[in-house]
Amino acid sequence: MQYNFDEIIDRRGTDALKIDAVPNIWGRGDLLPLWVADMDFATPPFIIEALRRRLDHEILGYTMRTPQWASSIVAWQQNRYGWTIQPEWLNFVPGIVPGIAFVISCFTEPGDAILIQPPVYHPYIHVPQNLGRTLRRNRLDLVDGQYHIDFERFEQDVRGCKLFLLCHPHNPGGRVWTAEELRRIAEICHREGVIVVSDEIHADLTLPPYHHVPFASVSAEAAACSITLMSPSKAFNMAGLTSSYSIISDEALRERFHQHLEHSELNLGHVFAFNSVAAAYSHGTEWLDQMLSYVQGNIDYIEQYLAGELPQVGMIRPQASYLVFLDFRGLGLSQAELNALIVDKAHLALNDGAMFEGEGFMRLNAASPRSVIEEAMRRLKEATLLN
Ligand SMILES: Cc1ncc(COP(=O)(O)O)c(C=O)c1O
Repeated sequence: MQYNFDEIIDRRGTDALKIDAVPNIWGRGDLLPLWVADMDFATPPFIIEALRRRLDHEILGYTMRTPQWASSIVAWQQNRYGWTIQPEWLNFVPGIVPGIAFVISCFTEPGDAILIQPPVYHPYIHVPQNLGRTLRRNRLDLVDGQYHIDFERFEQDVRGCKLFLLCHPHNPGGRVWTAEELRRIAEICHREGVIVVSDEIHADLTLPPYHHVPFASVSAEAAACSITLMSPSKAFNMAGLTSSYSIISDEALRERFHQHLEHSELNLGHVFAFNSVAAAYSHGTEWLDQMLSYVQGNIDYIEQYLAGELPQVGMIRPQASYLVFLDFRGLGLSQAELNALIVDKAHLALNDGAMFEGEGFMRLNAASPRSVIEEAMRRLKEATLLN
């Protein structure tokens, strides 16, 4: 079946954060919304169908985890990544960010140090601090257009930390960490007694020719010191269903985390939590491959447009996902001036790089119909040239 990603779907009035929150956040409603990370493509029909089937029954009571939920996850990890996992390694978490907060509460005390790698997804900065933990930073180096880890600094920075939040693939840089890099991280963290939380929410969006390698699969050390968090929410555009899961192969870590979840009933799930995941993973391959190819086309378009029409603006070419980190440092603007250019002149709602601790950058979400991306590029060019 051929899916249509060119279709413009009006999301106004659906309480969609990406659209309906724009006037509140930016104080104006005329911005093209290419910010928060969900897609303007229809959630695939096989997921909508699974939800609809459930709604055919008129009682929405407490809902159990189904064997199909676990078996679909096990099969997906095996088929897509060659990672053999067991159903009992899994648990439900109501979103990746809540999952990160649960891990922090379970394995650390107030004041304990947690390592992050800025520029990085902003809840990694706020959640540990909101929970009273101490943030440590291991800044990534931008070399030859991609982010890299300086392992000498990493080794020093991680020493004494209790947790390391690994964004894999990385947001906003779109970097797919290699098996070799992951093995080095595992070797260091295992030796230093640091638990690695591997957030793999963007894994299914890895763009050819890159391959996602699950962190926990790279070595015995990685398996022994890690908690993986995953969800079909990004890849299948179902973030509003808040249905994610943890995978923990190490028995001691697993027992402790599962008890933590169960004590406060954090892992109950909801009436759509399990059937939606099973539907995505059981029927999703063809849709996902077509969607990724469309997104790859959007990214190619942006890259060629900037190179040809607006060479003052650079971009980090994502190896995974639909988020493009645009590099405005060449314009020599302050962050406030850059925001004024993007909002007041280009009329675009993008994520300010400063929120990820990436000053001089703006994050653009390219998961929209091509015509919308073309319009965004036109606006950006006009505003930049007139500035
Ligand atoms: C790296 C990363 N982790 C987690 C999330 C959010 O996950 P959730 O909505 O399941 O909390 C996002 C959303 O953009 C993300 O980019």
